[in-house]
Amino acid sequence: MDRVIIFDTTLRDGEQAAGGSLNAQEKLEIARQLERLGVDVIEAGFPVTSPGDFEAVRVIAEKIRKPSICALMHANLKAVDESWKAIKKASNPRIHIVLSSSDIHLFYQLRKSREQIIEMSRDTVKHARKYTDNIEFSAMDASRTEPAFIYQLLKIVIDAGATTVNIPDTVGYAMPQQWATVIEGILKNVPNIDKAVVSTHCHNDLGLAVANSLAAIKAGARQVEGCINGIGERAGNAALEEIIMAIKTRSDFFNLTTRIDTKQIYRTSRLVSDLTGFHVQPNKAIIGGNAFRHSSGLHVDGLLKKSSTYEIMDPRSVGIPSSSIVLGKTSGRHAFRERLSELGYTLNDEDLNKAFAAFKELADKKKDITDRDIESLVAEEQRTISEQYHLDRLQVTCGDRGIPTAAVRLMSPGGKALEDAALGTGPVDAVYKAINRLVKVPNELTEFSVKSITEGIDAIGEVLIRIESEGVTYTGRGADTDIIVSSAKAYINALNRLLAAKKAKGKKK
Ligand code: KIV
Ligand code: ZN
Repeated sequence: MDRVIIFDTTLRDGEQAAGGSLNAQEKLEIARQLERLGVDVIEAGFPVTSPGDFEAVRVIAEKIRKPSICALMHANLKAVDESWKAIKKASNPRIHIVLSSSDIHLFYQLRKSREQIIEMSRDTVKHARKYTDNIEFSAMDASRTEPAFIYQLLKIVIDAGATTVNIPDTVGYAMPQQWATVIEGILKNVPNIDKAVVSTHCHNDLGLAVANSLAAIKAGARQVEGCINGIGERAGNAALEEIIMAIKTRSDFFNLTTRIDTKQIYRTSRLVSDLTGFHVQPNKAIIGGNAFRHSSGLHVDGLLKKSSTYEIMDPRSVGIPSSSIVLGKTSGRHAFRERLSELGYTLNDEDLNKAFAAFKELADKKKDITDRDIESLVAEEQRTISEQYHLDRLQVTCGDRGIPTAAVRLMSPGGKALEDAALGTGPVDAVYKAINRLVKVPNELTEFSVKSITEGIDAIGEVLIRIESEGVTYTGRGADTDIIVSSAKAYINALNRLLAAKKAKGKKK
C-alpha cells in the first residue's frame, strides 16, 4: 500500500487564525504531542515574521527529533538565509518557499509578471539547495491559476531542486471533482513530476477542505497538509484528524496508509483546543463531544447488539476515553496514576503529587470524578507550571441586594503574598478589578465564556477568556467547580501569558 505523508501546519497556518496566538512554550508542547501522534512533517512557523516565531521554530527544531521540521518563507534569498538559522539543528529540516501563481495575486498584490514569478521561484529554490535537498515549493492560490502556468512553474522549481510541490487552494474556492482534475493534470503534464511529491493544502471557505484534500489524494497527491481541529485562517484549514480517519476507515476505497497513531488523535485535539482557546463544536466529526454519542432508541438498540450497526469507527481507535470508569473520594494514588496512564499521561513524581492533591481536593467537592474531570485537572495543573502570579485565595460577596465585592490574594513572582479588594458590577467584574489593582497591566477583556466539562450540578466549569493588550490577544483558561474561581484562574492565566510575552520581547531588545 502507498503511504500519504501527513504535514501538520497547526503551528503555522493554524496559529494564523484570528485570536489563536500561542507562545513558544505552548508551541513546543503541541509539537511534542504531534510527534506522539506520528505526523511526518511539522510546519513550526514562519520565522521571519517575528522574533517570537523565530524562537519557537528554533526550539522545536532542536527538541523534536522524529518528524521533519519545516519553516515557511517568502521567495526571497535573504528570507531563506534567515529562516534556515531557525531550523538548521532539526534532524530533518525542511525549507518551504511560497509564492503566488494566480493572475489575480500577480496583478493586484505582487505587481509582477509571470516571467518574474518564474525567475524568483527558480532563484530561491536554487539558493535553498545550498542548505538542504528537503525543499517544498507552494504555488499560492493555485486553484485560481491557469493550469498551463502551474505546469510550467512546477517544472522549473523541480528542475531547480524542489522535492515537494504543494498545490494550495488558498482561498477555499475549489470543488472536489475539479480539484482531483487539477492534481491529475499536474501528474500528467509536468514532465519531471516523478522527482517530487505532489502535495495538497486546502482551506475551508466553502466547507470543502477535507473533501477537496481527499479528492486530491485519490487523484494521486501523496502529501496532505492541514491542521488539528481544522483551525486556521478564516474558516480554517482541512481538519487533519478527519483526513486521517477517512484514509483509515475507508482503506478499501483509498488503498493507502499513514504513519499516524490514531489513538493520539483525541488528546492532540484537546491540547490544541486548550492552548489556542478554540472550542471544538459538539457535532464536529471524529473529535466533537457528540461524535460517538447515540440518542435515538433504534440506534442504541442496534449498538447494544453490535456496535458496527451504527458506528463506523471505534471511539477507542481515536483515543476517546471511556467515561464509564469513575474515580471518587476513596480512590487512592495508585488508581489515580493507573487512570492517568490509561488516558495517555505520564507525569513525573512532582507533577503526579500535585495532580493527586488537586484530585483529592476535587473529590471533596464532587462525588464522581470522570475521565473528562481528570483531563481538565491535569490541564489546569500544567497551565500553572510556569506562571508568575498564582491565585492563593479568593472571596466574593454578591447577590441582588449588596454591591458585589471581591477580596483576592495572589502569590507574586518573588513568592510575596499580595492582597487587595474591589467592588464591581458583578462578582467576576469585582474579581477582575481586584486582580488589576495587584498586577497593574493595562488590557481589555474581549471575550468571556463558561462551559461545563461534565454533566451534573457539581460539574467542573471551565472559563475561557481573551484579553487584548497593545493589539495582541492573549487567551486564558481556568477550571474549577466554582465558576468565580475558574474566572479568576482564567484571568490570571491570560495575564501570565501576557507578562511572559512582554518579558520575552524585552529580552530581545
Ligand atoms: O494557503 C496557502 O496558500 C498557504 C501556503 C503558504 C501554502 O498557507
Ligand atoms: Zn494556507
